[in-house]
Amino acid sequence: MAKYIITGGKRLEGTVRVTGAKNSILPILAATLLTTKEVVINDCPGLVDIEKVLGILRAVGCKVKQEGSTLIIDPSTITTCIIPDKYVKEIRSSIIFLGAMIARTGKARVTYPGGCEIGQRPINLHLSGLKKLGTDINDSHGYIECEGSNLIGADIHLDYPSVGATENIILAATAAHGYTIIRNAAKEPEISDLQAFINAIGGRVSGAGTSTIVVEGRRPMYGTEYTIIPDRIVAGTYLTAGVITGGEVLVENVILDHIQPIIAKLRESGAIIKASGTSIHIKGRERPLPIYHTTTLPYPGFPTDMQAQLMSLLSVSSGTSVLVETIFENRFKHVPELIRMGANIRIDGKTAVIQGVERLKGARVSSWDLRGGAALVLAGLRAEGQTVVENIHHIDRGYECLQSSLKKLGADIDRVEDQQ
Ligand code: UD1
Repeated sequence: MAKYIITGGKRLEGTVRVTGAKNSILPILAATLLTTKEVVINDCPGLVDIEKVLGILRAVGCKVKQEGSTLIIDPSTITTCIIPDKYVKEIRSSIIFLGAMIARTGKARVTYPGGCEIGQRPINLHLSGLKKLGTDINDSHGYIECEGSNLIGADIHLDYPSVGATENIILAATAAHGYTIIRNAAKEPEISDLQAFINAIGGRVSGAGTSTIVVEGRRPMYGTEYTIIPDRIVAGTYLTAGVITGGEVLVENVILDHIQPIIAKLRESGAIIKASGTSIHIKGRERPLPIYHTTTLPYPGFPTDMQAQLMSLLSVSSGTSVLVETIFENRFKHVPELIRMGANIRIDGKTAVIQGVERLKGARVSSWDLRGGAALVLAGLRAEGQTVVENIHHIDRGYECLQSSLKKLGADIDRVEDQQ
């Protein structure tokens, strides 16, 4: 088990470049199954989650090559429609292979993904959407077996704009006869990226970024070379790292539009932000201002994936802030850890009331999930003395070389690989 050892109090200064978005790469890797031609994907960071998805592609028979941050996938050679249990258990978002595999082979089998660190995470919307397209779903003994060799386009209204369900339905609908309309679809930028990729290989998807998406099925598919959009959550995390240390950071390779909800909150905290093209310069105050109210919401609302990092910032603000988590039911696991560092936070159901303290104190804390772990690193950068963040394998799922990037910005942070 690896850990970070951070000596806080260093003001971050310098430039950091954001890599491709993990949450785009995962569905796009699944979407490579829609074609039989070679696909080249650029700007893929070395993340544990991406390694696992590449493991799935290899396990179903695809040829995968990695050249730096470029992935070359030859999906012509797939041999099975079964997604191995091992991967589904390790990476919940592998459920996205259901839609892609049905589109490619007319059938798919996965083990039930179950809940995870941040909540129950049901997949009812994924399954009901696939059923509406004509997939026969047999759900027994912990497995989901799908038969969908003759899918027909349908008009599907999602009860909730689920990101994963929207992606799964788009993927399956590429093989359906006629048109599929997805209403109340998720509007996240990663959906637009999936649309752009599918269109680049010959598909015809429109409407991503709005709540109505239309997919024309059964188009001939080709190969392509594609570059992933920058990761808005990684960008938000580095911007927050600048602000929490009262520093001055230039974050490069950002799509400004995608991070407006995050920038709006950092501005409320008193940070001075200047955007120029694909770079954002941020300067934090010595002590951030409190933010009266923040609620996590589907895009373009404030992202749940930034809730924990914002909470670290608010814990050292000069007043009282309220943060409401509406997306996942179990996403406050970082709170007891922040309290160990001296934060003053009260939780009541979905609501956290954060009374800013003048200083956090270094402590031994544990990360319980990906973004919660990143939040503890941010708190450690600000805290007095030494913070040890344990269980950082969670952080490795979503941040490439977090430690070396922060070190380049002037942080005192080391990674220690513990012997078991
Ligand atoms: C994706 C992101 C994750 C982000 C989340 C919300 C990926 C790989 N992960 O997760 O980082 O935090 O969007 O922005 O892209 N729900 C149902 N039934 C379903 C599906 C979802 O009730 O069938 C509920 C979930 O329990 C949750 C809410 O809908 O409460 C949002 O989930 P969803 O948008 O599906 O998130 P993911 O796609 O799993």
